[in-house]
Amino acid sequence: MKVLLIGNGAREHALGEAICRSPQKPELVVLADKINPGLQKLAAVYEKVDSLADLEKLKEVAEREKPEFAIIGPEAPLAVGATDLLESLNIGCLAPRKNSTRLESSKSFTRDLLQKHNIPGNPEFSVFVQNPEAAKAIRLFMESLDGQFVVKADGLKSGKGVKVVGDHLAGIEDGLHFALKCLEEDGRVVIEEKLIGEEFSAMFLTDGKTLAALPVSQDHKRAFEDDKGPNTGGMGSYSDENGSLPFLRPEDLAAAREITEKVLVALNSETGETFRGVMYGGFIATKNGIRLIEYNARFGDPEALNVLPILKTDFVEVIRAVTTGKLRSLPLEFEKKATVVKYAVPEGYPSNPVVGTEIKLLGMPEGCRIYFAAVDIDDEGRILTGTSRALAFVGIADSLEAAERIAEAGIQKAEGKLFHRRDIGTPMLIEKRMRHMNSLRG
Ligand code: AMP
Ligand code: GLY
Repeated sequence: MKVLLIGNGAREHALGEAICRSPQKPELVVLADKINPGLQKLAAVYEKVDSLADLEKLKEVAEREKPEFAIIGPEAPLAVGATDLLESLNIGCLAPRKNSTRLESSKSFTRDLLQKHNIPGNPEFSVFVQNPEAAKAIRLFMESLDGQFVVKADGLKSGKGVKVVGDHLAGIEDGLHFALKCLEEDGRVVIEEKLIGEEFSAMFLTDGKTLAALPVSQDHKRAFEDDKGPNTGGMGSYSDENGSLPFLRPEDLAAAREITEKVLVALNSETGETFRGVMYGGFIATKNGIRLIEYNARFGDPEALNVLPILKTDFVEVIRAVTTGKLRSLPLEFEKKATVVKYAVPEGYPSNPVVGTEIKLLGMPEGCRIYFAAVDIDDEGRILTGTSRALAFVGIADSLEAAERIAEAGIQKAEGKLFHRRDIGTPMLIEKRMRHMNSLRG
């Protein structure tokens, strides 16, 4: 039996590992646009293509290899309909079809979906379209939010489409300027209330009917310690041994689940399709309860690294259950472990990463896992920095404190022109998050 995996980041390395752990001994077929040395080692077939969004090539590989099912990591192939194509070849996908992927690819679609179906979780928001009155209307709306707003481009912008007042925007003039630029590019822009609280990632696997919750984690988007610096793809994340986070209460997780359950039903009825794959909600715990920041229609990266290494259930069975609508009869089991993920990234990342410099791995402490992301390999087999996150180190232990120490000790063994956030998962940062949440909740 063959499983097709599309993508080549650390998330896909962890997905590949989970697939290969299966006692069913599947053959892993990888479609990648870069060599991931970790994934390549696991794969029976490693097909390198110029673009993951090349459907012709995907068709060729799928028809040749005839996998039983496929799993798609990144958003680009989803957005061009990789799932639609594979399903037309009778290959079940742990990934939604193009139309359902609007849950991630259009911010306005998802805000409107919640509103139309009376689902709780939206902040105050308004969608603006290109017209001569737009600038005036946007300004008025920003003023009505007391200047506390966020501007969101409508399409997929690789993390660069969201600007928050106070962080990336100085005030209304700045915000208006960015909003008008978004309107010009996409004909549509979302303006919403700036929410204050602690963010968390809640991912659910779904076969379209049943939701299976994965351990909840917290990502760190800012490049530098203490949440300073530019936004990145995510510098690391942590999850506690109870599958939650120290600042969350059980009712917070229940609220995130309830929102997601309702969104699934609404989405399926809106698209006429069945969403199969991962609903990854970016939520924020505020003083007024849980609010939705956004949904992604795929596994998070780094968040996937908090959940896949501790999944006890046979992942191939999970994919089968998702793609055949039988998730209800397959309860997911995870090891009761805390996990801390830290990314080593090239100096200068994200704006100006040093590319092509050697990374040396000097051994590894016990319990630490390493996952390759965007690295290059030269003719002599040396590992080199690429333009994005290089290597992920995952500490797994009985407590967050121990998991953090393992991840930190592991990342210290990566030598090169690299940096990472030491603070992720440390008691100091976690206490800060808890103090913040306690002060909001009174
Ligand atoms: P998104 O691409 O929607 O996940 O947004 C990227 C980041 O912008 C989020 O992780 C938040 O930190 C921030 N953000 C998005 N929407 C809001 C909001 N309404 N209030 C405060 N921060 C937000
Ligand atoms: N953790 C951010 C993302 O996967 O989009």
